[in-house]
Amino acid sequence: MDCQHILSSAQFSRSDLDRIVKRASDMEEILLAGGTKICDGKILGALFYEPSTRTRLSFETAMHRLGGRVISETDVTFSSQTKGEVMEDTIRIVGGYADVIAIRTKVKGEAKLAAHYSPVPVLNGGDGAGEHPTQALLDLYTIAKHHKIGEEKLKVSFVGDLKYGRTVHSLVKVLRHYEGVEICFVAPEVIQIPDEYLTESDKIFHELHDEVVTQSDVIYDTRMQKERFDDMEQFQEVKNAFIFDAEIVERMKANASILHPLPRVNEIRQEVDTLPQAKYFEQAQNGVPVRMALIAEVLGL
Ligand code: CP
Repeated sequence: MDCQHILSSAQFSRSDLDRIVKRASDMEEILLAGGTKICDGKILGALFYEPSTRTRLSFETAMHRLGGRVISETDVTFSSQTKGEVMEDTIRIVGGYADVIAIRTKVKGEAKLAAHYSPVPVLNGGDGAGEHPTQALLDLYTIAKHHKIGEEKLKVSFVGDLKYGRTVHSLVKVLRHYEGVEICFVAPEVIQIPDEYLTESDKIFHELHDEVVTQSDVIYDTRMQKERFDDMEQFQEVKNAFIFDAEIVERMKANASILHPLPRVNEIRQEVDTLPQAKYFEQAQNGVPVRMALIAEVLGL
């Protein structure tokens, strides 16, 4: 990687991706054997200024499984930022306490700002509607476990809120490194993928056509990001645009995967959870070995 921080998927080369996938696989073996102590004496600072279950807790679990410890600030109302402290100062201070910082912010670009002021590596755990690069790596890891990405043709269809869905923005950049990956974007016009993530070969749909359901190898569904809409009428119009039920998912290829970064609201019915295509809970579990790999990487271990 070209810097110690992990801020955007744009920073990864193909060899970075191959190395991280391999290291995450090694970490999965280590987890099965009960963990390791390579981070003994190291501390992760978890600064989460937006709600999170998976990202924060899998980062914390990863550090514990590596033998390190965790300090965290998980509610901005208990942070000195409510007394007027600027984020730059918070980062300088926490960077003096911890060896690595995982941060989630409401504002696009704030993880990069934090990295600028941090004396220790910063891992972007989601910056507003910007990016979520560590999620993209666990998504890649999950895809690589079930599909021959880069070796065979792979049709990946992104469905849902593609405008505000930061996990989509980060995963698209990662997938561009792999030969044979065809990308479809399925969303109502008002929440379609921003131009900056689009290439000429991508396909755009506004509805969930049969072609998408029956021909995709991976469907990457996302939640409508209610908290990021300025116009609630617009949210009401699109909130139920796509709902995956058992009838739809059973029409997918038998060996296809339906992924979702979670949390889901109503876009995947619970009846889908037991179908073989449903990989989203396994995907969330993969957050631990992937984040173990990333913590070890940025600490140079
Ligand atoms: N996938 C993800 O970012 O989930 P959380 O918001 O629960 O961290």
